[in-house]
Amino acid sequence: MKFYLLYFLLILAFVFSSKVKLIEEETVTKTRQGKIKEDEFDIYIKSHNKNYGPEEYKARKQIYRENLERIKKHNEDSSQTWGAGENQFTDWSDGEFKAYLTKFPLPEFKNDPIDRSKLQPLTSLPDTYDLRNNITAVKNQGSCGACWAFSATAVAEGVFNLNDGILMDLSQQQVISCTTTCAGCDGGVTSYALDYIQVNGSCGDYLWGYEGQNGVCSGTSFDNCQANSFVKVKNQSTVFLYTDSDPVGLLQQILVSYGPVGIAIDADSLSYYEDGVATSMSCSNNPSNANHAPSLVGYGTDGTTPFWRVKNSWGTGWGENGFFRFERGINLCGIENYAYFATGSTNDGLTKFNDTVTGLKVSPSSNQFTLNWDSYPGAQKYFVKAIIDGELYLWETSKTSPTVDTASSYTNATCWVAPILDSQYGALSENITFNSAHSLVLSFLAFLLILLNVF
Ligand SMILES: *[C@@H]1O[C@H](CO)[C@@H](O)[C@H](O)[C@H]1NC(C)=O
Ligand SMILES: *[C@@H]1O[C@H](CO)[C@@H](O)[C@H](O)[C@H]1NC(C)=O
Ligand SMILES: *[C@@H]1O[C@H](CO)[C@@H](O)[C@H](O)[C@H]1NC(C)=O
Ligand SMILES: *[C@@H]1O[C@H](CO)[C@@H](O)[C@H](O)[C@H]1NC(C)=O
Ligand SMILES: *[C@@H]1O[C@H](CO)[C@@H](O)[C@H](O)[C@H]1NC(C)=O
Repeated sequence: MKFYLLYFLLILAFVFSSKVKLIEEETVTKTRQGKIKEDEFDIYIKSHNKNYGPEEYKARKQIYRENLERIKKHNEDSSQTWGAGENQFTDWSDGEFKAYLTKFPLPEFKNDPIDRSKLQPLTSLPDTYDLRNNITAVKNQGSCGACWAFSATAVAEGVFNLNDGILMDLSQQQVISCTTTCAGCDGGVTSYALDYIQVNGSCGDYLWGYEGQNGVCSGTSFDNCQANSFVKVKNQSTVFLYTDSDPVGLLQQILVSYGPVGIAIDADSLSYYEDGVATSMSCSNNPSNANHAPSLVGYGTDGTTPFWRVKNSWGTGWGENGFFRFERGINLCGIENYAYFATGSTNDGLTKFNDTVTGLKVSPSSNQFTLNWDSYPGAQKYFVKAIIDGELYLWETSKTSPTVDTASSYTNATCWVAPILDSQYGALSENITFNSAHSLVLSFLAFLLILLNVF
């Protein structure tokens, strides 16, 4: 019996030690064959929350290695002005990336719809312009090819902010699910989405958060959203810059006059952009090759190179915190071909705002008033609307006593407050700021009128 036990232990020890040896040998060979790269890929998929079965893992690893090689080569080439880097696309094949960029028939040329006399004159344009502090955060469209929806909401958010002083994070999912002239995640055109927003309005992102798929234009989110689609654009327009004698100047004028501008580019080589001003890239500037729709948010000069600054919709981990820069004036990848924008905005439909908070009080002073209300059970944030002498103020707050700066004295304010329950939030926007740059020229003292329970 004792012998059996001894034999058993000996066998066990042998098996164990040979296993250890085997493992050691394997590790050594793997290290020789480039185990370090294997670790890199594992780190990469972990950091991008990717998960693959054994077959796909192998294939992706191969693509990843090839792309890393290309990134390395690019960065070693001293003639390149922009840096390449790793991002969510580094284990995608070129074919997959091309398929992700959505080609959608762009609108036919129509005569210039804009009144050029209303644009900021060319001669008074600033040398540099940067709207990065006047826009909502960079979003991530994920694997859904709806760049056009992000570009359209960026335009609407911008022009609404410029006109109404409220930076509101608008719902992309609404335009993706509801714009019948586009194809959701399979592509669309910024101007068609702007047409939707012009007619039907746009709601806050907190009412209909991003789903990253086509979805349907109905249901609870749709109902909530439609009831609060008070942001509308006016005179949505497309300028075919490539037919203009000075596309660069005109694009700058539109940007400075109306805020972020939707553009359409060939983004074939953008997948591994990381930073810098790109002065050349493998792409076409033919208008018919456009396959990506981001939004132009600024221009400037880096050293001696004039550039455009563009907000993308591939997350903040991509590019320069979600933005990229192209040389200005060479129509790189078609960046100076199209301008999608709106010349005005409106807040039609605000009467649908639902007041459900009781105990609203206001403490007015000459250029300010403080709102105060009883906190609402379950609500962490509130949506506040005020019409002060005909001007609309609209914002989100977590406070039950925010101060509203009216910039000058006023005679009549009407306020509404609605609780936003956490469950309604989805992708929460925190970029709604109160802009006090409203001029209310009034000579006599404040006289405040509060309307409660409007329904
Ligand atoms: C952008 O924001 C800054 C600071 O918040 C403000 O001073 C400026 O007027 C804004 N510009 C536009 C065009 O809205
Ligand atoms: C406005 O919404 C209606 C109903 O959902 C839809 O049929 C129509 O196409 C939309 N208008 C535009 C211009 O997209
Ligand atoms: C919209 O276009 C019409 C007709 O061209 C014009 O009269 C109006 O002033 C424009 N509105 C805005 C806000 O630019
Ligand atoms: C307004 O809020 C009340 C209370 O939550 C709710 O019963 C009512 O349906 C809401 N009305 C609209 C138009 O959303
Ligand atoms: C005050 O403003 C509200 C909302 O704009 C309006 O309905 C009301 O008639 C105004 N009251 C006075 C006295 O002007």
